[in-house]
Amino acid sequence: MSLPPGFLDEIRNRVPISRVIGKKVVWDLRKSNQARGDWWAPCPFHQEKSASFHCDDQKGYYYCFGCQAKGDAIGFLRDHDGMEFIEAVKLLAAEAGLTMPEPDPRAREKTDRRTKLLEVTEAACRWFRLQLQTGAAADARDYLDRRGLDAPALERFEIGFAPDHRTALTAALRDKGFPEEQIVEAGMSARPDGGGAPYDRFRGRIIFPIRDGQGRCIGFGGRAMDPNARAKYLNSPETPLFDKGRNLYNLGPARSAVAKGQRLVVAEGYMDVIALARAGFEGAVAPLGTAITEEQLRLMWRVSPEPVIALDGDAAGQRAAQRLIDLALPLIGPGQALRFVILPAGQDPDDLIKASGPGAMGALLDQARPMLDLLWAREIQGQVFDSPERKAALDRRLAEAVARIPDERTRALYAEEIRRKQWDLFGGGRKTTPRAGAAGRSQARRQGASMAPRAPVPPISLNVPDQGEGLLEGAALLICALRPSITAQLEGRLERLMPRDPDRAALLHDLLTRTDSPAGRRGLETLRRNAHLGLTPAIIERKDDDSAAVMLLDLLDKLEVARATSHELPRAESEIQGEADEGLTWRISQITRARHRAEHPEMESSGDMNEDRDALSAQLSDWLSGQIWRKPPRR
Ligand code: UTP
Ligand code: MN
Repeated sequence: MSLPPGFLDEIRNRVPISRVIGKKVVWDLRKSNQARGDWWAPCPFHQEKSASFHCDDQKGYYYCFGCQAKGDAIGFLRDHDGMEFIEAVKLLAAEAGLTMPEPDPRAREKTDRRTKLLEVTEAACRWFRLQLQTGAAADARDYLDRRGLDAPALERFEIGFAPDHRTALTAALRDKGFPEEQIVEAGMSARPDGGGAPYDRFRGRIIFPIRDGQGRCIGFGGRAMDPNARAKYLNSPETPLFDKGRNLYNLGPARSAVAKGQRLVVAEGYMDVIALARAGFEGAVAPLGTAITEEQLRLMWRVSPEPVIALDGDAAGQRAAQRLIDLALPLIGPGQALRFVILPAGQDPDDLIKASGPGAMGALLDQARPMLDLLWAREIQGQVFDSPERKAALDRRLAEAVARIPDERTRALYAEEIRRKQWDLFGGGRKTTPRAGAAGRSQARRQGASMAPRAPVPPISLNVPDQGEGLLEGAALLICALRPSITAQLEGRLERLMPRDPDRAALLHDLLTRTDSPAGRRGLETLRRNAHLGLTPAIIERKDDDSAAVMLLDLLDKLEVARATSHELPRAESEIQGEADEGLTWRISQITRARHRAEHPEMESSGDMNEDRDALSAQLSDWLSGQIWRKPPRR
């Protein structure tokens, strides 16, 4: 809707901003100067006891000296109350005693047409919901029950059912007096290619109504219950109401939740959003059956400066993340950032919450990584930078990526952070011991090695064994904590575990001595909250003592081999520092890695060692859940 010139100014003149904000804050009347329209209060955007939030009626502006929140009255209603622009204008116009201007005739006609279509979708929404109560929906109710959706959840997300019938909905809508034309235009039925009577688009499916930011029902997603159905999900077609690329599932409720302090979490599917919202992450949204679009990114940024993208850790999820990075690079800047949570492979948020609980999901969301980390990982993964050419190629790729960032300051900070990461990766940041110091440096000069690292640096894989060891060790400790009886049997082996983390060490000590210390409790708590180990307790609890003991023994074996190998590489490297040529160092590291691979077939993924921590943890849980008790117990 276009507003006549001066309309907003008129509102500003008539409604002091302190009147709007005064409904949401308690003014500090000693600090404020009412006569001058100069107001102070504790900030409604961040937690504080002092009054650093300033509001100036003359300027019609507010600013918080604590969290830098700022804006005018409309901005306040948008950022604090989660309102849309036009909603806020309407509210302020009413406050000012102004009537909203009439839209022009063409816009009005378009609005009228949309209003009619909305009547159709709302009627369909009610009808789908009624169908879920009928006898024909018994299987659907069973299915929903199996997926853990109780009555309040069905109610909250308005879940419905489309019976497996060619024309049930079309007929029902026609009976309500809607013209066939409108039913088709609203996307509820389709005309057969060869002509003839329209048929229902959704048949034999669970129905998820999709509402826009203002709560209007613009379309539906329908999930097949039959796992062999040709399309698992079918969504409304593009209609005058439904623009898949410009809307997000659950946007309205998520916006209110974010305005109340929740984070905006972007999942892949409807069921994920529902699971997240029910687990307390109410700022959850999802795209509507397509990859995230630029418009959807902008929509997210209007809700939150830093949405957290939660993607499945499988190959498809990784690809989606890469696409999203490319889409986002030319758009990011202050207030427009992204973070990523990569879930364990094969798990979406719905699966993860079901398997490991809201706590595990929360822990993962807390660890969400900035986009820069993913960009960096993508560019270095699977590569060895043992020549100037390779490093230069990396430089160029990174520079090209960074060059796409439009905001100058953000671009500079990306470049700076990337330089730091390169410095670390290429060994420049490595501490040299005094002994290696002087001799090593002159050696390097003689060989002209300042251009290339003397020891080739296998990309991220150097720290992967460590991460893997941490997980193996954590899983072993968890088993011990959950199964005290087998802990006693394996005392000797467990003593050699020697965790480096003090809390883990305390936990082990407590378990072995049957005591209880704050540090030990903290260690256990951290393990329980570790999302990468999230599946482990459930698995352990389901097994008998003997299988758990086999699991534990196997973990201890793996851990010892892993430790031996990961200590060997740096040692070999340091021993030959300055004495051997790069080729030898490289060959040794290759041999070590090959041996590691041979000894850890279960840690192998698609033939390279560069799995990140999440993939490793997924493999760990696969391995724990799938294979271990199939092996005959060892004597
Ligand atoms: P997923 O295949 O990941 O399904 O698709 P899901 O969300 O985990 O659903 P459940 O748990 O199996 O029920 C993610 C999203 O991709 C779209 C849907 O929007 C879905 O929510 N999608 C998927 C389609 O549009 N069509 C499909 O055939 C599959
Ligand atoms: Mn799912």
